[in-house]
Amino acid sequence: MAPLMESPTLLCIALLLFAPDGMLAAPQKPMVSLNPPWNRIFKGENVTLTCHGNKFYAVDSTKWIHNGSVLEVTTSSLNIVNADFEDSGEYKCQHPKFNESEPVYLEVFSDWLLLQASAQVVMEGQPLFLRCHGWRNWNVYKVIYYKNGEALKYWYENHNISITNATVEDSGTYYCVGKMWQLDYASEPLNITVKKAQRDKYWLQFFIPLLVAILFVVDTGLFISTQRQVTFLLKIKRNRKGFKLLSPHPKPNPQNN
Ligand SMILES: *[C@@H]1O[C@H](CO)[C@@H](O)[C@H](O)[C@H]1NC(C)=O
Ligand SMILES: *[C@@H]1O[C@H](CO)[C@@H](O)[C@H](O)[C@H]1NC(C)=O
Ligand SMILES: *[C@@H]1O[C@H](CO)[C@@H](O)[C@H](O)[C@H]1NC(C)=O
Ligand SMILES: *[C@@H]1O[C@H](CO)[C@@H](O)[C@H](O)[C@H]1NC(C)=O
Ligand SMILES: *[C@@H]1O[C@H](CO)[C@@H](O)[C@H](O)[C@H]1NC(C)=O
Ligand SMILES: *[C@@H]1O[C@H](CO)[C@@H](O)[C@H](O)[C@H]1NC(C)=O
Repeated sequence: MAPLMESPTLLCIALLLFAPDGMLAAPQKPMVSLNPPWNRIFKGENVTLTCHGNKFYAVDSTKWIHNGSVLEVTTSSLNIVNADFEDSGEYKCQHPKFNESEPVYLEVFSDWLLLQASAQVVMEGQPLFLRCHGWRNWNVYKVIYYKNGEALKYWYENHNISITNATVEDSGTYYCVGKMWQLDYASEPLNITVKKAQRDKYWLQFFIPLLVAILFVVDTGLFISTQRQVTFLLKIKRNRKGFKLLSPHPKPNPQNN
């Protein structure tokens, strides 16, 4: 039974190791998300940072790090209320025994129009949202989004740009213009980079379990064929004892003559 017992265990280990968020593959890193999703906000606005990845730990064990200094907050969410310029900078979170998250950069602005993006660096295939946001949430109309200096979209009423599946061609320098209280305004430009997805990793994730599955099948096949051979040999042995007629080349039996 050895081959059958070992192979499923191997298969499980391989699947665990290479599962998309396999715990064994690498130490899990928490992730910081923003709600609302914009990391460029106006002074006086609110944003909540949430640290994900603490499924296995106590609720109040999150460490928040702003510009390298540890904050007093230990909850998994960090509320930034009435944001001020000094709230700008690098944010990271950490759980005991887990590595620090990738940093998130918050920028607090004072301007008329602000181009907000769900992310400035996006992986290919991920969604991307852009918003032409007016100071104090004032109504912006006749909105034009520009990409690399060319008009991309025009709306009389303000709209967000929503790209469900970003491609490398969506990379570029974006800004928006629009009217508030009948005056024209333009946002500062913002660079957006869409990165090619890493295919090798996905290939490995798929290939290793496949390889193990193939080994498993071959192994089982070998086991079954060995079992068949043994049964066959046993049969032959039995047959030799019992009915000698089954032997392909019956030896001439002197008694028959
Ligand atoms: C931010 O939150 C505070 C407290 O809840 C609230 O008074 C304020 O109006 C909020 N600011 C905005 C821009 O929503
Ligand atoms: C954090 O760093 C940002 C960017 O360097 C700066 O604007 C902000 O004032 C800093 N805030 C604190 C509290 O150090
Ligand atoms: C986690 O932290 C350790 C020690 O600082 C480091 O050696 C390791 O590369 C980190 N792992 C990840 C996935 O960042
Ligand atoms: C996203 O776009 C790429 C390239 O155009 C395409 O290969 C892929 O299938 C698309 N994915 C989805 C989920 O639409
Ligand atoms: C753009 O997105 C924000 C945040 O999700 C939302 O509050 C706002 O209503 C949207 N604006 C428009 C014009 O759709
Ligand atoms: C944005 O991209 C343009 C064109 O690639 C480049 O010249 C500019 O320096 C970039 N700006 C920032 C802030 O990275």
